[in-house]
Amino acid sequence: MRFGHFDDSAREYVITTPRTPYPWINYLGSESFFGLISHMGGGYCFYRDARLRRLTRYRYNSVPNEQGGRFFYIHENGEYWTPTFAPVKTELDSFECRHGLGYTRITGSRKGIEAELLYLVPRGFNAEVHQVTLRNKSNTPRTLKLFSFVEFCLWNAHDDATNLQRNLSTGEVEVVGSTIYHKTEYRERRNHFAFYHVNAPVAGFDTDRESFIGLYNHLGEPEVVQRGVPKNTVAHGWAPIGSHCLEVTLAPGAERKFVFLLGYVENPPAEKWSKPGVIEKRRATAMIEQFSKPEQVESALQTLRQHWTELLGRYSVKSPDEKLNRMVNIWNPYQCVVTFHMSRSASYFETGIGRGMGFRDSNQDLLGFVHLLPELARQRIIDIASTQFPDGSAYHQYQPLTKRGNNDIGSGFNDDPLWLILGVAAYIKETGDYAILDESVPFDNDENNRAPLMEHLTRSFEHVLNNIGPHGLPLIGRADWNDCLNLNCFSETPDESYQTTGNRVGRTAESVFIAGMFCHIGPEYAALCERRGDADRAQRARREIAKMEKIVLEHGWDGDWFLRAYDFFGNKVGSKECEDGKIFIEPQGYCVMAGIGKESGHAARALDAVKERLDTPYGIVLVNPAYTRYQVELGEISSYPPGYKENAGIFCHNNPWIMIAETVLRRPERAFEYYKKITPAYIEDISEVHKMEPYVYSQMIAGKDAVKPGEAKNSWLTRTAAWNFVAVSQHLLGVRPHYDGLVVDPCLPAEVPQFSITRWCRGTTYVINVKNSGKGGAPKLVVDGKPVAGNLVPYGKPGATIQVECSV
Ligand code: BGC
Ligand code: NOJ
Repeated sequence: MRFGHFDDSAREYVITTPRTPYPWINYLGSESFFGLISHMGGGYCFYRDARLRRLTRYRYNSVPNEQGGRFFYIHENGEYWTPTFAPVKTELDSFECRHGLGYTRITGSRKGIEAELLYLVPRGFNAEVHQVTLRNKSNTPRTLKLFSFVEFCLWNAHDDATNLQRNLSTGEVEVVGSTIYHKTEYRERRNHFAFYHVNAPVAGFDTDRESFIGLYNHLGEPEVVQRGVPKNTVAHGWAPIGSHCLEVTLAPGAERKFVFLLGYVENPPAEKWSKPGVIEKRRATAMIEQFSKPEQVESALQTLRQHWTELLGRYSVKSPDEKLNRMVNIWNPYQCVVTFHMSRSASYFETGIGRGMGFRDSNQDLLGFVHLLPELARQRIIDIASTQFPDGSAYHQYQPLTKRGNNDIGSGFNDDPLWLILGVAAYIKETGDYAILDESVPFDNDENNRAPLMEHLTRSFEHVLNNIGPHGLPLIGRADWNDCLNLNCFSETPDESYQTTGNRVGRTAESVFIAGMFCHIGPEYAALCERRGDADRAQRARREIAKMEKIVLEHGWDGDWFLRAYDFFGNKVGSKECEDGKIFIEPQGYCVMAGIGKESGHAARALDAVKERLDTPYGIVLVNPAYTRYQVELGEISSYPPGYKENAGIFCHNNPWIMIAETVLRRPERAFEYYKKITPAYIEDISEVHKMEPYVYSQMIAGKDAVKPGEAKNSWLTRTAAWNFVAVSQHLLGVRPHYDGLVVDPCLPAEVPQFSITRWCRGTTYVINVKNSGKGGAPKLVVDGKPVAGNLVPYGKPGATIQVECSV
């Protein structure tokens, strides 16, 4: 069952009923100011940091779900309604929400009045624009009252939700004409404030929540809206809000537009006040002037659309499969850019007050957006590498505002260092910017201990070799990619973290997955050494990788698939010998991606075992059989009920590793089958089962052991976006940048018989037409009319367009 449809030409998803199975959200903003917005106008906004600079309040995990947003109430002769359906929930005559790239348009109508709400954050601007268009579609003149509503958060979202004894006394506002200024704590150490403005004279306003709503009412029945008369309240303490009241008379067929601005301003400390106690407002006034007319909103929307047209033009496909096209051309890269900005901070599942940026998360996010925003990728790499320790290990997370490693979590996740090599290699392949390797980057942000980035990569590589266990496999530390496989932690008390507790200093627990990573990512390190003229190091690296491959086949092979790990006691994890958890997805994907056992047949057997034991109609589960009881020596993985999260959920993030692995074995049917199972556009028809947005990936879909298999959770902020983009664009469609040219190596089944790809890379445009037999053989290339051997199209001149004909 669907709740809407894709409109590809507008690059929008159109939701046609407010009753989606979960709030379906979008993101506004692309630089410093961001908003989350649901199809009902719910959500909140913040400046840079969802925890420390939150402008509006949102109550997570509330009843009803949407407790916070930018709402518009329409009052007419004692009746009132909201065009977003919630919070009033009066039945509408029509409803439509269009989520586009960086903007959302919600239109609701009732009894001949149509209200269209356009929400966006203009490029380079620190405010949300809410444009309200009211249309009288009836035959009689109508007189309405329009009430706006936002509730201010007192900046620090964590403190705001917990420190009530203070916060209920600190709230302050100023009201001047049609602008409401929120200035809580401005009197002391803050020099920032928020404002909520409308470009028309108001009939009144409210800034005190209890007065507006009524203490025992809820957002769906605000007292002021019920009566249709504003109270002109000025908040002192309690809960400051911003609400304007506008009187509107519309002749039949007439329409009126109002532009609301919800903005953020920082004043230099010396210019805080215009007179004692009164905030200096010049910067706000200047912003207001920029958006005082609907034409200015229209032009900002066009600029935003143009920005996305440019970005998305860097990789696009035309194929007979419209679902493939819309994911590759629109939604998958869009989600990659959102994950770049948000990391794992703010979604409807991440509260914005928890985790910072993950070391491994951010390195992998980079794989999905590096072709779109290479300059930002460069900066991100430097920031991440600056949190590495001199021994090559790394802080598992760092804070975006301070860019400092997070001490609460610390280090010891032994996969982390290798992801840095992968991120840097992807950046260099995309840009050719080898100079980044010479950038001087501190260790642990210590200015007195710096080294060129290349040295950081060496420390990453060596960190694996310096931490080898009894079988010659890499030690796992606190966990590897699977944060929930905690083989050294032994957590027995509820109020502690699985990842950081105990950490018995065992040097026995080993990870076959990290071994696979070492063999997959290590060659990138060797290639970079070679390109910098360090042949000895490159050779040594390759020797170590070859050695590791042998060790994996000797000690990391379980007979039909790759083992997952050895635990603290040296027992096997992910083996036939285990009671539960006999086979894991991660090592099958990563070892085969590395080519381990490709010639000997191990790789094919491992992937066949995945098909047989882990595949389901909704995707590939992480482990099978699911753990049925808590096993302290394995940690958090066995804490989840069977079928959820790491305990045999379909962790979408590592499904693409299996897709890529299938292309390594040149098995296009299976690779594409796995792709279609988890890719949102293909499962739009079962939205009632899947529940999450049909235009973005979720982190997890409940697995076959769950009570509701196929039900997804944790949409938006997941590396699933980046890895699926890599899988589909670089391995299925098969176009990927390499150090000296663009690889063209498609591996898709015959159901996509021909397609063409336009790829912009290093200033050159490549137009690649593919005739696909679906047999998975080696491609034959003709470049600008000349046949070339192999699958590499050498990089052309910037500005040129190169034609590639490929048959495969
Ligand atoms: C989740 C993991 C996550 C970890 C660290 C666990 O509860 O299941 O997916 O990586 O927490 O935040
Ligand atoms: C989510 C975390 O952000 C990520 O770092 C981890 O790899 C996965 N969960 C799997 O545990």
